[in-house]
Amino acid sequence: MADPRSRPTVVVRDVSPSTDCSTIVSRSHLQVLLARSPIPPEVLLDNLALYMPRTAIVDAIAMGDLYRRILCVPGTVMEFGTRWGRRLPLFVALRELYEPYDYTRRIVGFDTFSGFPRVHVNDGGHPEIHAGSMSTATGYAEHLSRVLEAHEEQTALPHIRRVEVRAGDVVDTVPDYLRDYPETLVSLAYFDLDLYEPTRACMSAIRSRLVPGSILAFDELAHHNFPGETLAVLDELGLRWGAVEKLPHHRGPTIVTVATPPSRPTCRAEHERSV
Ligand SMILES: C[S@@+](CC[C@H](N)C(=O)[O-])C[C@H]1O[C@@H](n2cnc3c(N)ncnc32)[C@H](O)[C@@H]1O
Repeated sequence: MADPRSRPTVVVRDVSPSTDCSTIVSRSHLQVLLARSPIPPEVLLDNLALYMPRTAIVDAIAMGDLYRRILCVPGTVMEFGTRWGRRLPLFVALRELYEPYDYTRRIVGFDTFSGFPRVHVNDGGHPEIHAGSMSTATGYAEHLSRVLEAHEEQTALPHIRRVEVRAGDVVDTVPDYLRDYPETLVSLAYFDLDLYEPTRACMSAIRSRLVPGSILAFDELAHHNFPGETLAVLDELGLRWGAVEKLPHHRGPTIVTVATPPSRPTCRAEHERSV
């Protein structure tokens, strides 16, 4: 019998379960079933959960868990890297559920909508890491704005626009947003840019807008395929200025709850000085 210790080591490079063969097959079954759904259009929206994959359902539950943590924290909800924007209507619905009359709780999504503008050496070599990756359709930002407007029309304060999409490179659009809304505090910042440079730029832009209790959620912290996000956190803020935890039922997001807004040198900078 072969000695199990002599088996060759299998190095897992791509750590996305969504690229697993059975996941791809069951997803494409659901795609076909949705495309051929016998549910009449007028009731299809109410029944879309029938076709949602487990990962999308778990993500929606996670957003509920996150949102409940900011109910006593003032400020805007920002998502950096929205792509198709699936989380933005969730945040609108959660706001409507928990605090429908808080007209100061704005929700803003940022994306180029044309994919990654560029990549950095810290972003690693995963096949999805290249300029133009993760783009959307032409004119998508406009479509997303219209969808969000339709959702907001059904809220308790339909005459106050509290959800917005900012198209363009976050390096420019986040400072522009803060210039347009100088009163902004940030209660929840959801980072899903996947890349080093823009993640760092967003953290730098909002750091003075964080308050004790603000939540920073990271979709790819400690993720092997997208090292840039973790390196950006280590270089820009470090991880010693608030509780760091993950939700128990999913791999992410990783959540940093701000204890004292970070103004100290980062732990990487401290470490480099001490050696
Ligand atoms: C993983 S996708 C976001 C997925 C989305 N949050 C979701 O839940 O489906 C990463 C997004 O970051 C965006 N992105 C990366 N760098 C950017 C930058 N410098 N400015 C704006 N958007 C950027 C990409 O266009 C892409 O849509």
